[in-house]
Amino acid sequence: MKIAISGKGGVGKTTVAAFLIKALSDRGFRVLAIDADPDANLAHALGLGNHFHITPISQMKELIEERTETKLGGFGAFFKLNPKVDDLPDSLGVEAMEGVRLLVMGGVKKGGTGCVCPESTLLKNLVRHIVLQRNEAVVMDMEAGLEHLGRGTAGAVDILLVVVEPGKRSIDTAREIKRLAGDIGIKRVGAVLNKIRRAEEEKLLREELKDMEILGYIPFREAILRADLENKAPFLLDQESLSMVDEILQKIQNPKNPEGGAHE
Ligand SMILES: Nc1ncnc2c1ncn2[C@@H]1O[C@H](COP(=O)(O)OP(=O)(O)O)[C@@H](O)[C@H]1O
Ligand SMILES: [Mg+2]
Repeated sequence: MKIAISGKGGVGKTTVAAFLIKALSDRGFRVLAIDADPDANLAHALGLGNHFHITPISQMKELIEERTETKLGGFGAFFKLNPKVDDLPDSLGVEAMEGVRLLVMGGVKKGGTGCVCPESTLLKNLVRHIVLQRNEAVVMDMEAGLEHLGRGTAGAVDILLVVVEPGKRSIDTAREIKRLAGDIGIKRVGAVLNKIRRAEEEKLLREELKDMEILGYIPFREAILRADLENKAPFLLDQESLSMVDEILQKIQNPKNPEGGAHE
């Protein structure tokens, strides 16, 4: 089970990722949680707390230099395109909870369009290795641009979840992500509607996104906001949403189930 999560900034990607990771772990899966958003905060959402600092892999200068056989910041144009990465999930992953390891990728400064630099090469190789070779469940919290997913990797992702909140910009971004996902060869794209306050909002989003598979929704909940403010995991304060996400997980695993039906 390899799940990638994308959507406009602030829609709730990290929150949905945290709930999904917990739901998978509760169902007995071993999980690799990947924070692939340059603006990383999955560690907080998993309840690792304020004082827990994890260095993103993109900032591990020595590691990147060693593995790609180059000197960062130098003028040398050559570096290894196929660096060794298979040991990194175990050596760099942090145990976030029972059976869940967290890896923080970090962001790569882009010089112009489509930078091919040692940092991004290492991260892309690492994501590819994880998606193709590791046998844990994988949940990847990503930015809207799907930066770390190359073509070969995208094809092995089981589903890309696009988180959408009521609002035009979030809907536009969702459509854009769906197009992008098709371009790089992602097989299945499903939407999770988040921060729903009224039934009409859910209905409107379903209409706007009718050519997308809708996997379910999560209501707007004070408890989720509070968890964020208090630096706690949202699933600790909101069991109800956790069980809704567990239903979403069941739909991800059983694509044949008729879609919809999350709302009476
Ligand atoms: N269903 C929800 N109800 C209330 N607040 C939510 C909900 N989902 C997310 N939030 C809040 O919205 C903010 C952004 O969520 P986050 O998961 O960090 O978004 P993203 O990762 O997409 O940037 C956080 O403060 C989070 O607590
Ligand atoms: Mg986030």
